[in-house]
Amino acid sequence: MGRLTGKTAVITGATGGIGEASVVRFLSEGAKVMAIGRSAEKLARLTSRIGENPNFATFVADSTDEQATAAAMQQTEAQFGQIDVLFANAGTEGDVAPLESLTADQFRAVIETNVVGVWLAMKYCAEHMKSRGTGSIVCTASIAGVVGFPNLMPYIASKHAVCGMVQTAALELGPAGVRVNAVAPGPIANRMIESLEQQMSPEDPDSVHEGIVASIPMGRYGNNEEVANLVLFLASDEASYTNGATYTIDGGYTAA
Ligand SMILES: NC(=O)c1ccc[n+]([C@@H]2O[C@H](COP(=O)([O-])OP(=O)(O)OC[C@H]3O[C@@H](n4cnc5c(N)ncnc54)[C@H](OP(=O)(O)O)[C@@H]3O)[C@@H](O)[C@H]2O)c1
Repeated sequence: MGRLTGKTAVITGATGGIGEASVVRFLSEGAKVMAIGRSAEKLARLTSRIGENPNFATFVADSTDEQATAAAMQQTEAQFGQIDVLFANAGTEGDVAPLESLTADQFRAVIETNVVGVWLAMKYCAEHMKSRGTGSIVCTASIAGVVGFPNLMPYIASKHAVCGMVQTAALELGPAGVRVNAVAPGPIANRMIESLEQQMSPEDPDSVHEGIVASIPMGRYGNNEEVANLVLFLASDEASYTNGATYTIDGGYTAA
């Protein structure tokens, strides 16, 4: 018996590092998984990796698209009968720039995906979960939701917002038996942190990497699977008294 046997999970950002690791982990723990991504091509690649599996399905939806998000949740209910877990994980790092150089469009693009997108995913699961009196929503925030970093204002604002949305949703949905929590990863070795390193120093991204690693007590980046393990716990009934909290997973970065 797996830790998610009998449960259906919706995972957004399923084509990215943390999302894909979570799809694989959730399936291995017995869940039925609806993997949502904005790229049909990347979802097809994920499907080939997973192989023939009646517990796995995909849906193409940009997380900023309200209709597509609603349709994804409807399709999950139609195909698997219920939604027990939402992992609202899609996110973008946006552009790295001093606050005075950013345009409003650059700022809004990050907020649209990381804030409005996360809220939309919650919105279209909430009623269903409330009516069943059970559910676990896990959102991907970041240590950028707990502390600030220079030249990352849209991303910082968006991830602070995720932590606040999780607290608010926990207060609204907790009485109906639905738990809402966030994970706040530190640097995780995948495409997103490589993009940030590259943007911070196009001529020498390795020096950025070394500088960040030097400030992590554990002396390394985390990996996608380590984050998936924490998400799995929060999604599962083992986390039955967690609600409204943000769980850092950062090798001790924010402990200082
Ligand atoms: N990597 C880190 O160091 C780190 C640290 C803290 C928090 N996080 C957070 O972790 C989450 C997952 O990111 P990751 O680390 O796995 O990086 P990633 O590999 O870049 O994955 C990001 C995922 O979000 C999807 N996405 C972005 N914009 C979208 C949109 N408008 N609509 C639908 N999907 C969209 C991407 O889709 P495409 O594949 O189509 O681009 C991808 O599946 C994000 O919320 C990120 O902010 C990452």
